[in-house]
Amino acid sequence: MARHLITSALPYINGIKHLGNMVGSMLPADVYSRYLRQRGHDVLYICATDEHGTPAELAAKEQGLPVDAFCAQAHDAQKAVYDGFALAFDYFGRSSSAENVEITQHFARRLQENGFIEERAIRQVYSPADGRFLPDRYVEGTCPHCGYDKARGDQCENCTRVLDPTDLIDPRSAISGSTELEVRETKHLFLLQSRLQHEVEEWVARHEQDWPQLASSIARKWLTEGLHDRAITRDLDWGVPVPADTWPELAAEGKVFYVWFDAPIEYIGATKEWADRDPENRDWKAWWYDADTAVRYTQFMAKDNVPFHTVMFPATELGVREPWKKVDYVKAFNWLTYYGGKFSTSQKRGVFTDQALEILPADYWRYFLIANAPESDDSSFTWEHFTATVNKDLADTLGNFVNRVLSFSKKRFGEEVPAGGEPGEAEARLGEEIARLLAEYEAQMEALQFRKAAAALRALWSAGNSYLEEKAPWLEIKTDKDGAALTLRTAMNLIHLYAVVSEPFIPSSAAAMRAAFALPDDTATWTTPDEARSLTTLTPGIPFTVPPVLFAKLTDDDLEAYKERFGGSGA
Ligand code: MF3
Ligand code: ZN
Repeated sequence: MARHLITSALPYINGIKHLGNMVGSMLPADVYSRYLRQRGHDVLYICATDEHGTPAELAAKEQGLPVDAFCAQAHDAQKAVYDGFALAFDYFGRSSSAENVEITQHFARRLQENGFIEERAIRQVYSPADGRFLPDRYVEGTCPHCGYDKARGDQCENCTRVLDPTDLIDPRSAISGSTELEVRETKHLFLLQSRLQHEVEEWVARHEQDWPQLASSIARKWLTEGLHDRAITRDLDWGVPVPADTWPELAAEGKVFYVWFDAPIEYIGATKEWADRDPENRDWKAWWYDADTAVRYTQFMAKDNVPFHTVMFPATELGVREPWKKVDYVKAFNWLTYYGGKFSTSQKRGVFTDQALEILPADYWRYFLIANAPESDDSSFTWEHFTATVNKDLADTLGNFVNRVLSFSKKRFGEEVPAGGEPGEAEARLGEEIARLLAEYEAQMEALQFRKAAAALRALWSAGNSYLEEKAPWLEIKTDKDGAALTLRTAMNLIHLYAVVSEPFIPSSAAAMRAAFALPDDTATWTTPDEARSLTTLTPGIPFTVPPVLFAKLTDDDLEAYKERFGGSGA
């Protein structure tokens, strides 16, 4: 038994996430957490909304709400969707919490004491009409290279050239449209990451051989390009304030930390939020401080987040010069595409997580997404693939097996697990196959290879179908009633095993399978391959019920309706 700290990249507050966000962070983290809990480990799965920064301010403005009220409401809306997906966080916090403010300010003070922060004056665009400095992307104008008239101050969308706001012709504020812009000098805190380059390199070198290639190659690329000093404060109203005890002048000017500085610290902040809800029984520092070997820390994220987690946040943690827990394993994902194109929150293309739950229960999505997770490459969501997978794997292979076995047994032997003959050669072969596949499933889960784990799970379900076809109890019963009873009892033991091992993927269906049998709760713990081999957890006489159909089969009409509603192609 080990202690596992698990975090998934903090979803940004500005809107409901799409399926691509879900499969690249929170969902696999939940599957892994559930698996480890079932195996008896001490697991803490922490996530939170990432609430600071300009996009939050602008989203609030669009809705006509003060930014704190907007964030409170948007947090609840996201949490409701994650509950719907059965994400079993130990805590889902908020980066705007008092806990995160406290820890972020502490980190900044320590970095200052250790010589890793410097005040520098920079020149920035100021808009008197808006009464604020404008971040680069909120200055718009005409691109000097291609003449595109809606180029942003950081980049021209049309010709993709990287720009500086002062390059733009006829610049204007993207917020108010005002063209009366000035360039003013303003002071900001810079994190001297260049001074930490060497230490981060050493730290990465000591850990990357355990990471998947996607994570280590991105970390290497960033280190090769060199760590640059970067501004970690902004002129915004919404954020973690720069502490006045250390930087009175900047604090008086109302500067706050940059969202990417405080967001990863919220992994720690949210753990403290969790502990503060029940301080007698929860110790946040035991997970984060001086916990180098006592805790195994696994992070989940999409590939665009890898530099922040493998290089920048470790640099911050190293510079603090206190023993804060650093990540042990970085599970990174490629992109899920929608018919080969980009899922896009801003262009509303693809399927959003709240819409998905309006259509079908979470287990359908959970299974499909994990079985097709973009692990070694990007993977594409299509409605054709989704409906075919649901029908074949969930409805036919698993759901139908459960229903067929229990209905038939009830009809012929009543509502208790039937007695019948002793296991024979077919059961011995089945037992070997199940033990082998279960060991494979465990190995893939331990290795965080989710597609392969899903394939092993699917193979376990198929093995039951093959056994049932081979024994054909509906024929067997005509000549050998005891034999048919043995077959059904064995198949029921498979259902029970499926209920246990499918739980990380499809928790509510697993619970329904489990609840079919009148068993005391403590039998829901993991079944090892050795235990599974004998398939004898369910003994004759245990009462059972036939659960309602576990997975509805999706029709051609359903498929057409989905394509109609969401657009059936990438265009
Ligand atoms: N909100 C960021 C995103 O959506 C992820 C933040 S991860 C954290 O890409 F570690 F910084 F919190
Ligand atoms: Zn251009």
